[in-house]
Amino acid sequence: MSDKASSSDINSVLIENRQFPPSGEFASRARIQADDMAALHRKAEEDYEGFWADLAREHIQWSKPFSNVLDDSNAPHYQWFNDGEMNVSANCIDKHLADKAGKHAIIFEGEQGDIQKITYQQLHDMVCQFANGLKAKGIKKGDRVIIYMPMAPEAVVAMQACARIGAIHSVVFGGFSAESLRDRIEDAGAVMLITADGGHRGGGIVELKQAADKALQSGCDTLKNVVVLKRTGHEVNMQAGRDHWWYDVIDGQPTECEPEMVNAEHPLFLLYTSGSTGKPKGIQHSSAGYLLNAVITNLWVFDLQDEDIFWCTADVGWITGHTYVAYGPLAAGGTVVMYEGAPVVPDAGRFWKICEQHKVTVFYTAPTAIRALMKFGDDFPNSYDLSRIRLLGTVGEPINPEAWMWYHRVIGKERCPIVDTWWQTETGANMIAPIPGVVATKPGSCTLPLPGIMADVVNEDGESITEANTGGYLVIKKPFPSQLRTIWGDDQRFRDTYFPKFDGKYYLAGDSARKDEDGYFWIMGRIDDVVNISGHRLGTMEVESALVAHPRVVEAAVVSRPHEVKGEAIVAFVICQGERPTGDEAEQMEQELRNWVGEQIGSIAKPEEIRFADGLPKTRSGKIMRRLLRAIARGEDITQDTSTLENENVVLQLQGKA
Ligand code: WT7
Repeated sequence: MSDKASSSDINSVLIENRQFPPSGEFASRARIQADDMAALHRKAEEDYEGFWADLAREHIQWSKPFSNVLDDSNAPHYQWFNDGEMNVSANCIDKHLADKAGKHAIIFEGEQGDIQKITYQQLHDMVCQFANGLKAKGIKKGDRVIIYMPMAPEAVVAMQACARIGAIHSVVFGGFSAESLRDRIEDAGAVMLITADGGHRGGGIVELKQAADKALQSGCDTLKNVVVLKRTGHEVNMQAGRDHWWYDVIDGQPTECEPEMVNAEHPLFLLYTSGSTGKPKGIQHSSAGYLLNAVITNLWVFDLQDEDIFWCTADVGWITGHTYVAYGPLAAGGTVVMYEGAPVVPDAGRFWKICEQHKVTVFYTAPTAIRALMKFGDDFPNSYDLSRIRLLGTVGEPINPEAWMWYHRVIGKERCPIVDTWWQTETGANMIAPIPGVVATKPGSCTLPLPGIMADVVNEDGESITEANTGGYLVIKKPFPSQLRTIWGDDQRFRDTYFPKFDGKYYLAGDSARKDEDGYFWIMGRIDDVVNISGHRLGTMEVESALVAHPRVVEAAVVSRPHEVKGEAIVAFVICQGERPTGDEAEQMEQELRNWVGEQIGSIAKPEEIRFADGLPKTRSGKIMRRLLRAIARGEDITQDTSTLENENVVLQLQGKA
């Protein structure tokens, strides 16, 4: 684990060691100044609970104030502010109506160029109407509602409407397949599905309703109603009694809906993410604790100010779209941009055109998008006015120094700080990230933990690693408000996954990391069987189970190899029934299996490459030799002893040499 994470190419080492302090202009106008940051860190060190209590009083409107701060009586199921009551939607919308009713909450642009600007007052009315419509369909506090929608303002409206009445939403990314959707509906025991006829993406239509119909063909016994937004207007099947158009659901509903005040610990949402087994886990977040870290990181890390236009490009199907589109910026009274479609429609200038047209000031995206757009050269960004952008952010995976420098030079014009934000679905909000007016950045490092976040790198015994640049486990040593509360329906898996070591005292993130001589954090990769494809997490076991579900597949092993744009790409080793497919047959089979995985999970899970053999290399005890498979996938020389293999020829087959 002590290898350096990033490329050893001499150029990138030189870039990595450069420090970029914030420009004087940015620093002088930033919300958080050096002494503010120092005071926050000091307060968190000296009075941890007081630190969070002060923030919770300052940033959240309570209908019933809390007196408990942290309750660790049922550790590691920590609770925060658990005798207080509030409502997330009231905090995101109603709170601003007195002074910001006419301010834009959402600026939306569809892939085909349609634009919709929604003020806080309008958002309030839309959310209330829809919330009333949900109630009329029988939705009650605590019910689970699945949201499977395109990036449209109504996706945020649906989330906020659930929050308003205390229903627990679970957004399923529109790129997931019918099978994945069905698994999530069943695991959550959802009573309603909110979807759309489709969405525009890449010049075509994402057939969301069709996938939903397929998902509901079997199982899903708890599900009673489907609400369908008309987005594309193309013909879809509507099942009488079960399916209802969005416009009928809101028809005649009042634009006032009293928010349901809930306990701080009431679950706001579930969001499914991959782990090291075949089954995705429903990460359960709270209401107040989640919202608190969401708001403060929008203020501290994104320096959100009243006149800012914040564009986080993430889909609401991911945690980033929850915390930095649907909840955090609204709770902070900001204006967010939402874009429905692909970054290259009609050409690779689309993102920069949107930045110019909607006067984006803070832009947050993933390294994979930066790398993909970088490939199209500087002319696209250079033909748009990006002068209003003052702050850039990245998330999802380590950013390679070359992409960082391009982002800095071509998008930020060497003027904008870049906040590289480390966090996870489970942490709910940024954990390790620079406070941009204060902390100097280094390309490839997410810099330092935020005030109140006790992140560290420890060894096998849980001891802090003090030697610079020595890898270890990334942990968070104290509970924090926005951490996941459990895995839905599986407390045991929650404890086993996140608190398996160090006497259950520290939250285990699942990443390895190192700290450099300045204490800066460098994320090195996952310690479990989780891969990161285009900033999206995927379990190798999930892909393996999808493959073996195919009637011709006997066994499969999945590993990843580095990929120029996606970060990592999936390589699958597959054993088929009967003769090993070769030549044309292998090509056909490869195509069939790629599509199959796409249907089982979603397009992001399709293997980049599939190789067939008569068997998989295994140890004497029957364990698949994954390290060997990784070396084969990467085309590296094999240094491991393969003489104990039952069938050495297998390695040659997998290498494509036999
Ligand atoms: C995993 C979490 C948090 C939203 C996006 C992904 C990796 C995330 C960074 C970063 C290096 C990062 C980690 C983490 N990761 N951000 N700035 N630098 N690695 O959320 O799907 O829950 O994945 O993404 O490996 O554990 P997620």
